[in-house]
Amino acid sequence: MAQLLSNVCSIQSVVPESYILPPERRPGQQVVPHCDTIPVIDIDSDRNELIQEIIKASQEYGFFQLRNHGVSEELMKDVLVVAKEFFDLPVEEKERFYSEDPNQTCRIKTSIDFAKEKVHFWRDNLRHPCHPLEEHIHQWPENPARYREVFGLYSVEVRKLGLRILDLICEGLGLEAGYFEGGLSHGQTMSINHYPQCPDPTLVLGLPKHGDPFTITLLNQGDVPGLQVLKDEKWVAVEPLPNAFVVNINHMLQIISNGKLKSADHRVVASSNVARTTVASFIRPSIDVVIEPAKSLVSESNPPLYKCFTFGDFTRSYMADTHEGKDPLERLMIQS
Ligand code: OGA
Ligand code: NI
Repeated sequence: MAQLLSNVCSIQSVVPESYILPPERRPGQQVVPHCDTIPVIDIDSDRNELIQEIIKASQEYGFFQLRNHGVSEELMKDVLVVAKEFFDLPVEEKERFYSEDPNQTCRIKTSIDFAKEKVHFWRDNLRHPCHPLEEHIHQWPENPARYREVFGLYSVEVRKLGLRILDLICEGLGLEAGYFEGGLSHGQTMSINHYPQCPDPTLVLGLPKHGDPFTITLLNQGDVPGLQVLKDEKWVAVEPLPNAFVVNINHMLQIISNGKLKSADHRVVASSNVARTTVASFIRPSIDVVIEPAKSLVSESNPPLYKCFTFGDFTRSYMADTHEGKDPLERLMIQS
């Protein structure tokens, strides 16, 4: 438990050695511009226009912010309050969920793979499945007292919104109706990140450059900046917009769309003056579902770029590749 960062850093005024990145991997002191070009989309728009905007943003950035999405302002705020309350709990309470075993379903950990990685990242993370709710809710924290109630309501609302976005993407790509229903959106994981205040944010990263390995992510990032997206090989900051979701295309959607939609790399920087808590919801495929470029999107003139595989196979190689600093999509490419 000594590893849990929210405990370590309350007693440290310098960055512990094991979190200091080698100079070439540090975010450095450069000021990353807040990007006003990451598309902000209103879900209230006319359906056809909305589909076009989502597809364009997903092609060019792999990221967009979504406003007027129907999840209430109160619930967006409440879930962040409860998440912060959880990370403020005494060590013993959080310790009950601490594990280095990735198979433990409701689990708190520090960094990404603490036991295996050389340098750690500046975050704590609580993660658990949340769909179907009744199968999982009994494993979630009971403290704070409102945890199950608030996260339960939130999970259901976010799932509805996520499926609605997938439906719009499905239509925008010209896929048969319901393509993303069933196996490709079978599960949902709630992933709560806590990035404590850091004595020197130029030496660490909250999360290193990565793409999300599932279907789609809906992130509630609150009002503290920290997320950056790689666009044309430059890092751009995603400005917090009150009550908006940050939505990003994941690896499986990039493959299914045969590279049309982009699963963009992103990272998180730490801050010296404020802690940051975010709630990410991943809609994910089931382990046995077969992933491949959609048949209707490939042709002789537009051959498949990726091989056919099961999601379970991918998750195993994703972890291994991540440790070795390799691009996890590379092994899936069909060599031309
Ligand atoms: C993630 C992630 C971004 C953030 O959890 O995969 O990229 O701002 N989170 O917390
Ligand atoms: Ni991510």
